[in-house]
Amino acid sequence: MLPAMSHRTTAVDPGLLAYLAVRTAQEDRVLVELRAAAVAAGLPEIWIAPEQASLLAILVRAAGARTVVEVGTLAGYSAIWLARALPAGGRLHTIELEPKCARFARTWLQRAGVADRVEVHEGDARAVLPRFAAASVDVVFVDADKEGYPVYLEQGLRILRPGGLFLADNAFAFGEVLAPGSADAGVAVLRRFNDLVAARADLQAVIVPLGDGCWVGVKTEDSGARAR
Ligand SMILES: C[S@@+](CC[C@H](N)C(=O)[O-])C[C@H]1O[C@@H](n2cnc3c(N)ncnc32)[C@H](O)[C@@H]1O
Repeated sequence: MLPAMSHRTTAVDPGLLAYLAVRTAQEDRVLVELRAAAVAAGLPEIWIAPEQASLLAILVRAAGARTVVEVGTLAGYSAIWLARALPAGGRLHTIELEPKCARFARTWLQRAGVADRVEVHEGDARAVLPRFAAASVDVVFVDADKEGYPVYLEQGLRILRPGGLFLADNAFAFGEVLAPGSADAGVAVLRRFNDLVAARADLQAVIVPLGDGCWVGVKTEDSGARAR
């Protein structure tokens, strides 16, 4: 008889995080320079971590994604990682509300040599996402204003093809998701968003503990097919 298997989980502490971070794809010179230039330009330092960017790039490659939509461009940091993971002829649509960020990102997408495959949509994602046709996109990555997350979930699943990937940053709500009594409106909406994602019958998803917690989900063919 087989021995009873016990479930074992290793908590990711800073030491393990540093261990895994040096064992995945590293930033190149353009990305390092982009970060310095973004700080000098007064942009907030809220781009994703390199190991999380590496995870997104791996998923885009593994999915063979040809059309990717990103909500929240900022300086173009994650956009460059995503664009580099696309096959020839692939396209990244990245949506940014702030004209200053969109301008900055366009410059650096050019410097990174991926401007030919990236379109920066300047505007509110609530207005831009409805312009994409239903089931027309392979991967959606959400990383913008937290108040918009429930809308981006609805719109993201509408535009994703069955089998497409839904990715979203900040599942840990800046580390506050479990903080008792946090009055922050962004934390509250992220908690609600996490519950909405977990309850979707048309999405099988898990939070990967990289960065601020990264939702990785696949849109299921059959809304009744989800196994938990
Ligand atoms: C966390 S940053 C994105 C970081 C980027 N994904 C990266 O890792 O390099 C969020 C961005 O979303 C933008 N944003 C906020 N509200 C938005 C909206 N309603 N529509 C589109 N973009 C929005 C902000 O201006 C900001 O640049």
